[in-house]
Amino acid sequence: MPTPTLPEPQQQALLQAARHAQRRAYAPYSHYQVGAAVLDEQGRIHAGCNVENAAYPEGLCAEAAALAAMVLAGGTQALAVLVVGNGGKNNSAWTTPCGGCRQKLREFGGPDLPILTANPDHTGPGFTLAQLLPESFGPDHLDAPAPRP
Ligand code: THU
Repeated sequence: MPTPTLPEPQQQALLQAARHAQRRAYAPYSHYQVGAAVLDEQGRIHAGCNVENAAYPEGLCAEAAALAAMVLAGGTQALAVLVVGNGGKNNSAWTTPCGGCRQKLREFGGPDLPILTANPDHTGPGFTLAQLLPESFGPDHLDAPAPRP
């Protein structure tokens, strides 16, 4: 499947925003800092970082924080996403959105939504949302007319 690409200026802007966000992450428990940046339909970029909590399940992922910033700013569609985490051995373990975040991205992006990866030093592979969340359930399912009684 072809790797999605973005125009270089947009990719650079996403990269810069996500790397900046990663440095702000609050991850005292996992020590795994993540930054995410979303490009919206107005060409604006919204960033977020993970925010952990002493009550572990209450922690927030970077992608969710970036989407919340987009919604707060009036954005309605995600056109591209870039996630920055620290790679594993040899920087080979790129940070892709967790399952819950894939579904959250589905709310604001179609199957072709590019999801790009990076670490603080390198860019990684890109995927489409359909690659990461195939046969997904989304808002369009609920737009179906209600069955007649
Ligand atoms: N994390 C994210 O912020 N986004 C992801 O897509 C993967 C995981 C965070 C959650 C938690 O704070 C830490 O990374 C370790 O799981």
